[in-house]
Amino acid sequence: MALLPILVAPDPRLKTKAKPVEAVDDDLRKLIDDMLETMYEAPGIGLAAPQVGVLKRLLVLDVAGKDDPPAPMAFINPEIVWESDDLNVYEEGCLSIPAHYAEVERPAAVRVRYLDRDGKRQEIEADGLLATCLQHEIDHLDGKLFIDYLSSLKRNMILRKLKKETQKSA
Ligand code: NI
Repeated sequence: MALLPILVAPDPRLKTKAKPVEAVDDDLRKLIDDMLETMYEAPGIGLAAPQVGVLKRLLVLDVAGKDDPPAPMAFINPEIVWESDDLNVYEEGCLSIPAHYAEVERPAAVRVRYLDRDGKRQEIEADGLLATCLQHEIDHLDGKLFIDYLSSLKRNMILRKLKKETQKSA
């Protein structure tokens, strides 16, 4: 397994719509394992392929509690097929927007259709943190970041700070 470099906003690849995965093969499973390792190392609870520069519709996550055993999940070509009218607010963060957090309102529950790492069709109904995390990561596949839900004033402030920090470390 290998750690992958995580892109930080504003990187144009984070704003690009990802293409569907065509074959669930060993190369893809290796990418899934590398993404999981990268996510755990960061540490984070979700990571989408575009965040490591791969513009494919693939994401991994693990929303298990700190004291629970790890529960890695991979979603290939995920699609939201239903969302609740009820909304939920979570304070969100993102590995591509380090050290910035903001409250985002999203549907409280969703049903997602996807392929698992064996290429089998699956459907999951999620609520709570899993529902929020799935929506946040699926947004990444459409080139959307959680800061896109904020006012342009707040969003631009965060992007300016990130740009400054990236220039400092470059
Ligand atoms: Ni994110």
